[in-house]
Amino acid sequence: MAFVTVAVLAGIQFVPAQRTNPPSHGKLLAPPRIDEVLKRACYDCHSNESHWPWYSHVAPLSWLIVRDVDLGRKEINFSEWRSYYPATRRRKLEWMGRAVREENMPPWPYRLMHPGARLTNADRAALERWVESVLTTSSPRKQQ
Ligand code: HEC
Repeated sequence: MAFVTVAVLAGIQFVPAQRTNPPSHGKLLAPPRIDEVLKRACYDCHSNESHWPWYSHVAPLSWLIVRDVDLGRKEINFSEWRSYYPATRRRKLEWMGRAVREENMPPWPYRLMHPGARLTNADRAALERWVESVLTTSSPRKQQ
């Protein structure tokens, strides 16, 4: 039985997982405080600058991690930020405000593995203030 388990674990290592870090087109330009928080807590899944730790090379964990990064990048990719339409940016900012308020990002398994990525109250307050200020200054009404 142990042999079968080892054989299966060895076998699945040949099923590839695509760990990619494609070039960035239009990185988000945020103030340093915000940049620091996003890079520390969000970039692994929401940018093209993901860090791939050793366990991201070991199946079946590698499949789960690659799936999270693919899904995360689809929702919001800070490396593509300036290529989004303004209305799309606004929508994503609104989602971010909500995700930060409701404390559901980063996902809890990730927080468990990366204690440094947890958002402090000060981080959350800074992110909320920034989201709010970008939303107000980019408001179509304000531009008249
Ligand atoms: C471990 C990977 C990972 C990290 C780190 C991560 N996210 Fe996500 N995020 C995801 C995935 C996967 C989805 C899409 C599936 C879902 O909604 O759960 C997502 C979706 C989102 C969404 C859109 C859906 C929603 O809930 O409104 C927002 C906004 C978001 N993330 C913000 C953030 C912010 C802000 C951070 C950093 C503070 C962050 N995420 C860190 C994986 C991650």
